[in-house]
Amino acid sequence: MTNFKAFARQEVALAPFTLLTGLNSSGKSTVLQALALLRQSYEAGLLDHTDDTSGFLLNGELVELGTGQDVRHESYTENDPHITIAVTKDKSLYKWKAAYGREDDLLKLLDAPPGHHSQALRDLPSLFGPGFQYLRADRIVPAVSYPRSHDAAVRRSFLGARGEHTVNFLRAHQDDTVTAMSLRLPEASTTSLLEATDYWMQRLCPGVNILADGIPGTDTVRLSYGFGSGFSGSGRYRPTNVGFGLTYALPIVVACVSARPGSLILLENPEAHLHPQGQTWLAFLAVAAVAAGAQIILETHSDHVLNGLRLAVKDGRISAASTAVHFFRRTGQARKGQTSEVVSPAMADDGMLSDWPKGFFDEWENSLEQLLD
Ligand SMILES: Nc1ncnc2c1ncn2[C@@H]1O[C@H](COP(=O)(O)OP(=O)(O)O)[C@@H](O)[C@H]1O
Ligand SMILES: [Mg+2]
Repeated sequence: MTNFKAFARQEVALAPFTLLTGLNSSGKSTVLQALALLRQSYEAGLLDHTDDTSGFLLNGELVELGTGQDVRHESYTENDPHITIAVTKDKSLYKWKAAYGREDDLLKLLDAPPGHHSQALRDLPSLFGPGFQYLRADRIVPAVSYPRSHDAAVRRSFLGARGEHTVNFLRAHQDDTVTAMSLRLPEASTTSLLEATDYWMQRLCPGVNILADGIPGTDTVRLSYGFGSGFSGSGRYRPTNVGFGLTYALPIVVACVSARPGSLILLENPEAHLHPQGQTWLAFLAVAAVAAGAQIILETHSDHVLNGLRLAVKDGRISAASTAVHFFRRTGQARKGQTSEVVSPAMADDGMLSDWPKGFFDEWENSLEQLLD
């Protein structure tokens, strides 16, 4: 991408499992937002052609980025004042360049070679096809009811950028079969989406089970939790009476267990509100989704998510070559404003990383050193 938010120009190598980390405000979400912006513009019918009606839709269902002035990187140069987002796949480059308009919330696409856009839409099915999920850091909180959107949850299988359609998606798709071995219940002959969701939620909270059903006479659905197994544990609880972390993690769990070959799943801070072991399990779940054929890009501050990924590499559940770890940090002053850079430690087959830049998951050591001093 060029001239997009935190970056004057930045390339980020994406693997089947990409982990983005770094200090606050270092550009991690910018990477996810660039992809979400393409997706949101495409879904609005604005990306498949180049004329006055095409462009980057800055404010929509996935991201609300403001106007041109908010998204164009401060230190652009007059030689290249435009905003570009490009994706390379199998050595082919697909590029969307949009003209800057200070107050515009639709940045008009500039000319591309004939056929470029339609080719890109065909060749990047994970970005533009079904199976795309983007879960932002600000997600649904425990509530008495959730929206019932047929269009989002049933027709498009979309969980919502805040996971707001998760409960309705579960209600509608709970009996779907999970075919991927990595996501199914061990030793079960078949696993439904609801069973797989329960199974992975139980890794976060032993004994929990989930019920998602409609509320008659309303356009809403409800979620409830049970604890314990079988009929003995039949008491059910509203999300508002259960720990915050469970509901906060549910969209992440459902996005991963519903992963299919070709899914692209973007996750911001999936570890939020989970206990440390739960965070490790969450990395295992994301690895299982990759084994099911999905591509995951996640932004995290969690040592446990990183270590979960490293353990999964060591155990052979994912190959080191299928992972990418990027550490974002801000550099000093650019020509104007600040800019960010990316350091990418390489993962070895035993889960070891080639490089531990300063500030990269080193707080344990920093604090211990001071404690032992
Ligand atoms: N138009 C812009 N020009 C330059 N920097 C920007 C622009 N918009 C946002 N930023 C910078 O981007 C950073 C936030 O990036 P973000 O990707 O949200 O960070 P995080 O790493 O916390 O996810 C902030 O440092 C902000 O200064
Ligand atoms: Mg962020």
